[in-house]
Amino acid sequence: MKYEKIQGPKGVREYLPPESAAFEWVREQLIAPAKAAGYQLMELPVFEDTNLFTRGVGESTDVVSKEMYTFEDRGGRSITLRPEGTAGVMRAVIEQNLDRGQLPVKVWYSGQFFRAERPQAGRYRQFYQVGIEAIGLDDPAIDAEVIAIADRGFKNLGLRNYRLEITSLGDAQSRAAHRIDLMAFIKKLDLDEATAKRAEINPLRLFDDKRPEMQAAMVKAPLLLDYLSDSSRKSFELVQGYLRAMKIDFVINPRMVRGLDYYTGTTFEFVHSDLGAQSGIGGGGRYDGLMEILGGQSLSGIGFGLGVDRALLAAIAEKSLPAEDFTSDLFLIPLGESAMEIALTTAQELRAAGIRTEIAFGDRALKGAMKAADKSGARYVVVLGDSEISSGNVDLKRMSDGVLTSVKITQLRDQLRQALSL
Ligand code: HAM
Repeated sequence: MKYEKIQGPKGVREYLPPESAAFEWVREQLIAPAKAAGYQLMELPVFEDTNLFTRGVGESTDVVSKEMYTFEDRGGRSITLRPEGTAGVMRAVIEQNLDRGQLPVKVWYSGQFFRAERPQAGRYRQFYQVGIEAIGLDDPAIDAEVIAIADRGFKNLGLRNYRLEITSLGDAQSRAAHRIDLMAFIKKLDLDEATAKRAEINPLRLFDDKRPEMQAAMVKAPLLLDYLSDSSRKSFELVQGYLRAMKIDFVINPRMVRGLDYYTGTTFEFVHSDLGAQSGIGGGGRYDGLMEILGGQSLSGIGFGLGVDRALLAAIAEKSLPAEDFTSDLFLIPLGESAMEIALTTAQELRAAGIRTEIAFGDRALKGAMKAADKSGARYVVVLGDSEISSGNVDLKRMSDGVLTSVKITQLRDQLRQALSL
């Protein structure tokens, strides 16, 4: 009997060696600036009560209305695979009373998120984000810092071909004033029923409607940025001033619409120019009413989510990945049993000194082992045979040009640390 092969789920990106090393590197680079700024890890469930997202993310959004992976668990509860991270962080902060302690609560997270979107390059049904949230402080300085942390992550990847777009969705007063004029404007448009319903829940969504006739219709629509209250305008100007002081380039996009309904005040997106349609490599903003909507106290918050999959695609497109970081420094080829013992102990010593060392296992002939060394991409190779053991000297082979240097086995560590500038 021959069994059929089973395929992985549709629209899901997997990261396997050797590419997975680049993926891991990208993720670490994106997280590092948050750690350096005192954000602390939060590990949360990948599934939550469905109400968390319908209420937190909003029913006018595609994410909630079309893209959620929702199912009933064995206890008859409605469960949803998390489509984003902010609502879950808020839920946990409220539930565990973190908001009763020192503010702001500053956390970072990293993991899989799920949206049943139509798969295409850079758009997956399971994708990876790293994100941060700063909860409990309404201060333009923290808005600027959050944006700066995201920007530093992308700079860590060596990315240059992206732009930061920012806008402000203002406070409740600004949005109420704008909504009156926007609704009056929308009433004059000839909308189908579904669009009219979306507009009723969140009229800003219409700016995000991709249909050409809708885009044309919205050209003259009133812009929220022209309705900012004095305090919202002042906050937004301060954010811009701080960004300029930190030398972070940005453009103001008054028509930006984020895909989630909880945003207020400062909102932003990072858009990469080499990625085609799925150009958003990260985004975020303030969400000043979210905690209250989720049953907590009325505290403000701001954060971002960066797309690890897309950031990796961007780094590949810009050829900014440090390939040498993803391979071993040294490939050790022992010939025979006593050589293996020396290889094992030497490798321990080298690894402890930060030298990434691989051993050729299996009683392979030298030729096969050299091939494996070549394939591994290791920067140096050492063959350890009887003559090397008796003389105590090995030839350190630099793989880029084949140059051999004779080195005492006891000196290998220092020699390599120097050659690798460790
Ligand atoms: P978002 O803009 O929906 O924001 O997602 C953030 C990033 O995740 C996007 O810019 C994109 O790079 C990536 N992303 C989203 N969907 C997909 C997909 N289907 N495939 C690949 N990558 C994707 C949020 O999720 C908010 N929670 C961010 C936030 C945190 N706002 C405040 N705090």
